[in-house]
Amino acid sequence: MADLLLDVQHLSKAYQHNQILKDISFQVHKGEVVALLGRSGSGKSTLIRTLNGLEPFQGGTLAFAGTPIDPTPATWLALRQRIGMVFQSYDLFPNLTVLENVLLAPVKVAKRPRADAEPEARTLLTDVGLADFADRYPRQLSGGQKQRVAIVRALAMHPEMMLFDEVTASLDPEMVRGVLDMMTALAQREMTMIVVTHEMGFARQVADRVLFLDDGVITVDTPAEAFFTAPPTDSAKAFLASMNY
Ligand SMILES: Nc1ncnc2c1ncn2[C@@H]1O[C@H](COP(=O)(O)OP(=O)(O)OP(=O)(O)O)[C@@H](O)[C@H]1O
Ligand SMILES: [Mg+2]
Repeated sequence: MADLLLDVQHLSKAYQHNQILKDISFQVHKGEVVALLGRSGSGKSTLIRTLNGLEPFQGGTLAFAGTPIDPTPATWLALRQRIGMVFQSYDLFPNLTVLENVLLAPVKVAKRPRADAEPEARTLLTDVGLADFADRYPRQLSGGQKQRVAIVRALAMHPEMMLFDEVTASLDPEMVRGVLDMMTALAQREMTMIVVTHEMGFARQVADRVLFLDDGVITVDTPAEAFFTAPPTDSAKAFLASMNY
């Protein structure tokens, strides 16, 4: 088995008295693509946000690349440079051009010389068909284009892992394909990824493994093909049926 990258043990999280994540344990190895699936409200976004230090948690441990993560702001700041995250709402800075959006973190946070970061940013944009959009502002882009820029912006930090939370959910149907293709290409280049998605065909095609969340509990952790050919629980069956899959 390849190197262990993310190790989650007995993670629990509550909002006030509402227990949302319950004794969550799983591991992600380098190069693995994990689809995180489950009904609305099952805790997928909460888990993804907790993994990236955007939500405090009350119990359990996290380790990344062999280093235990103590939940202090300094640790999270450092970790967020190694774990890229893209949400449903492309949160680009509206007052910056596409190129400046992509360069902001590499130059300001990672302190890379602009002369080195800019050609790379332009190459990343070219790879996803956005070379001609570098000097545009986010408002001049379609939803699909903005979401591709958001992914490029995360990649510009050279992340060791990417977290995706429903990145195509708010896109018009004709925009979805381009974004999924970009994520498929990333998976083929061995990017380690955790992907929350409603696109079951895509999940089946790119994921190595499925984690299925049921009311804050991981009830299934299985190879993706097995999950889709023979969903192992009634809840997983009902979920796939609700997705018309
Ligand atoms: N900031 C918050 N404060 C209190 N409760 C919250 C908060 N955010 C989420 N919750 C609750 O946590 C539970 C899990 O929500 P979460 O957003 O993680 O679900 P999800 O699986 O991502 O759902 P969806 O598929 O609709 O995005 C829900 O019951 C939700 O109401
Ligand atoms: Mg969610």
